[in-house]
Amino acid sequence: MKLHHVIEAQQFDLPTLNHLFNVTEEMERVVARGGINDFHSRLMATLFYEPSTRTRFSFEAAMHRLGGRVISTENAAEFSSVAKGETLEDTIRIVNGYVDVIVLRHNEVGAAKRAAAVSRVPIINAGDGAGQHPTQALLDLYTIRKEIGSIEGLKIAMVGDLAQGRTVRSLAYLLSKFKDVKMYFVAPPLLKMKADILDHLREHQTWFVEETMLDRVLPEVDVVYQTRVQKERFGDRIADYESCRDVYVISQASLQLMKPDAIIMHPLPRLGEISMEVDQDRRAAYFRQAQNGLFVRMALLATLLA
Ligand code: CP
Repeated sequence: MKLHHVIEAQQFDLPTLNHLFNVTEEMERVVARGGINDFHSRLMATLFYEPSTRTRFSFEAAMHRLGGRVISTENAAEFSSVAKGETLEDTIRIVNGYVDVIVLRHNEVGAAKRAAAVSRVPIINAGDGAGQHPTQALLDLYTIRKEIGSIEGLKIAMVGDLAQGRTVRSLAYLLSKFKDVKMYFVAPPLLKMKADILDHLREHQTWFVEETMLDRVLPEVDVVYQTRVQKERFGDRIADYESCRDVYVISQASLQLMKPDAIIMHPLPRLGEISMEVDQDRRAAYFRQAQNGLFVRMALLATLLA
């Protein structure tokens, strides 16, 4: 399997996904045994210009579980020489001299692609502004496969901030590769899924519908993929943010409308868009989903560094 940089979801074809998920299953067994030491000579840098809990910790835990080592800056804009005016490209060129793989989260769309253009070592896009979050989409897809059994014929509702949420963009690209998937995009008018994704789905003859009423969609779908309204991307448009937050809340009442074997996913962090009471329901898959991030990222690192 040829994989070097991981920049966007479109670059994964079905054989690559299958291979990666087979390795991921093996990684679940590796973690159960406490880890391996196969990558003791390899070094990973995590270079994060935006906050993160899941992505940074799961990548770092993944590298440690593989026996590799990690160097990290969790606030690169303040604690790296970017604060002195160094460009992203120069930073990447320098870090290339120290490590075997770079995991990059950046606030600008296209930052990972710019980094890859000057990097000899693999760049993994850990989120580029409102662009993409391909490794999140991989763990989302793995979670659906594990929880539901297959992807073909899936009906999925993506809910909330579809305009600024990078996880739903990457997931839509990945799901468009599977047969008979139906996507229900549930968002207020200000936060609708962007035209580039809708055009891609039309080109690939993938069925989708845009909706504003969540309750109409809940009884139909196998997966409810809830997202946070991304306050940090509204800038000074406070009134717009206030008009969109908490429009869609998954509550006990929502559970009554859902199929008994459907699941609820969320890339997390959540604010008020899933009530805490929902956590007790077996259909709440979001904490299991976050755990899968460790296994998928171990598989990705092992593949890139093999
Ligand atoms: N899902 C996700 O990307 O979470 P973090 O921002 O905590 O990494």
